[in-house]
Amino acid sequence: MSNYHIKHLEEYFQVYRKSVNQPEAFWEEIAEENFMWRKKWNAVLDWDFSKPSVQWFRGAKLNITENCIDRHLLTRGDQTAILFEPNNPNEPAEPISYKQLSVRVNKFANVLKSKGIQKGDRVCIYLPMIPELSVALLACARIGAIHSVVFAGFSATALATRINDSDCKMIITSDGAFRGNKTIDLKGIVDEALDRCTCVESVLVVKRIESEIQMKSGRDFWIAPLLEKASDTCQIEIMDAEDPLFILYTSGSTGMPKGMVHSTAGYMVYSAYTFKNTFQYTENDVYWCTADIGWITGHSYIVYGPLANGATTLMFEGVPSYPDFGRFWEIVQKHKVNQFYTAPTAIRALAKHGTELVNTYDLSSLKVLGSVGEPINEEAWHWYNDNIGKRNSPIVDTWWQTETGGIMITPIPYVTPTKPTYATLPFIGIQACLMDENGQELKGNQVEGRLCIKFPWPSIARTIWGNHQRYKETYFSAYEHKYFTGDGALRDEVGYYRITGRVDDVIIVSGHNLGTAPIEDAINEHPAVVESAIVGFPHYVKGSALYGYVILKDTGESRKHDNLRKEINQIITEHIGPIAKLDKIQFTDGLPKTRSGKIMRRILRKIAANEMENIGDISTLLNPEVVQSIIDNKL
Ligand code: WTA
Repeated sequence: MSNYHIKHLEEYFQVYRKSVNQPEAFWEEIAEENFMWRKKWNAVLDWDFSKPSVQWFRGAKLNITENCIDRHLLTRGDQTAILFEPNNPNEPAEPISYKQLSVRVNKFANVLKSKGIQKGDRVCIYLPMIPELSVALLACARIGAIHSVVFAGFSATALATRINDSDCKMIITSDGAFRGNKTIDLKGIVDEALDRCTCVESVLVVKRIESEIQMKSGRDFWIAPLLEKASDTCQIEIMDAEDPLFILYTSGSTGMPKGMVHSTAGYMVYSAYTFKNTFQYTENDVYWCTADIGWITGHSYIVYGPLANGATTLMFEGVPSYPDFGRFWEIVQKHKVNQFYTAPTAIRALAKHGTELVNTYDLSSLKVLGSVGEPINEEAWHWYNDNIGKRNSPIVDTWWQTETGGIMITPIPYVTPTKPTYATLPFIGIQACLMDENGQELKGNQVEGRLCIKFPWPSIARTIWGNHQRYKETYFSAYEHKYFTGDGALRDEVGYYRITGRVDDVIIVSGHNLGTAPIEDAINEHPAVVESAIVGFPHYVKGSALYGYVILKDTGESRKHDNLRKEINQIITEHIGPIAKLDKIQFTDGLPKTRSGKIMRRILRKIAANEMENIGDISTLLNPEVVQSIIDNKL
């Protein structure tokens, strides 16, 4: 039996028990047998959730790119590492072998060095889903630079905030992006952001859409001529196990986005191990995750996890609706995809278009279907199972977070019996628990509470960049000695978990986490706005959509309201990005508040969801009368 690849349910239970009873011995064996180290560790684990501090494989030396690339060159150098499928279906797909990937990463790393990037420097990456994006991550990792990828749908303001927060010295971008039948002017957005950033010394630009762009002399460089000249060998930087590998921003309930810091060794071990088992990847399979590398799912399960296993990972530049809603299935057929990993919002958007298109494609290569990012509703689960998997490919509903670095609760396909809407059992090494409102752990089955983790796992984020105190307050203060996830969950009669959703002010819209506070801050900048409150409400495709309650300075004539709605969404687009636009905006004279002045979002949520009968007690409000007027004017 190899603990690295679990194939039977009994094996899962046996390995799980070992991972909990002897976590250090367990992870030591996984680390030792499956990865390349330049030096072994002095201690497998040091931890103290009260500080909080977690160190895995302390004292070990390694480079993650040696594990993701170099070690595969002898055994599978000609195998495809990254299979690039362009936005335009008429443009040929580009298979990049491990050998070619090695050349590209080494050259790119040398270019970074030639521009003065050194170990520990932060490099911001703002690129579309093209091979250079994966290459740029790996090139940073090779020389020990810390990458901070910003999703290329964020606005100039959001980009500038993230660049400044982690003091990035360089930004890597492209002249633009293809997205369906549109193009996006990425370089223009970068130029605007850089007006507000003094830390950036150089900008490397990939040519993708061949548009006319401004190049600032001395600061901006086309990357192609630099790559051409660069040597194709670049020595790895030997990293400490705990050296940061990357920063990735995620929204919090309040304030600035949080720059979650992931370290090298633990992240590598856990992302690789979860990839192998959650997708049951076997030699020569073609694996496809449709996420963007701008999110954690892309980091762990397009780039690092698959490559550490020597897998073939497909990277898709486009969108599911272009040239039509059959595109995903066309790609599955064309590349004989074996594992397909996507988000419930995509499944629902495709389900809306029926099965006629789906049925014109041969999907028989599929063995495993994955879901991630938000709870998958029963209807979407069955549509996916019936029409895509033909009831033949288990669905792995994987629960995890940017902060966890890897999958935490999931079925293992062909091992764990699945159950619609349930993420089922904790992954190996994950000690999940549910807590009640009084801070007591809920023991036994058939209970519902707040989801926490009792013990560290290798890829837990180590801190928030520049703000360890906030890290402690957000994740380790709600319950003593436990990591608090911010999610609610229930455990059924056999111990399966079902995630019920966020219990804080983070709203997941089309799989993207959005904090309400930054959106409200943006709206409040509009000169006509006094105050605003944002809540989520159920939406068939997006899962949740945003409902805004806005108080205007002068209630004015209602015919002006449509213009104001447009302007408010425009401000949100400028401050955050189009993903944060509101679906509904209700103008109101007041917001329900507690006597201490806090907005009662619970009430606003109920109204937005049309659940007026469940509003509950409003007598303790400062202004109970406002509730009825909001209900009367509900959109
Ligand atoms: C939610 C994405 C239910 C959850 C990997 C979590 C899920 C947040 C699931 C993290 C799932 C993710 N079922 N909810 N299978 N997967 N979530 O940081 O609320 O973008 O806390 O990481 O998404 O989102 P993030």
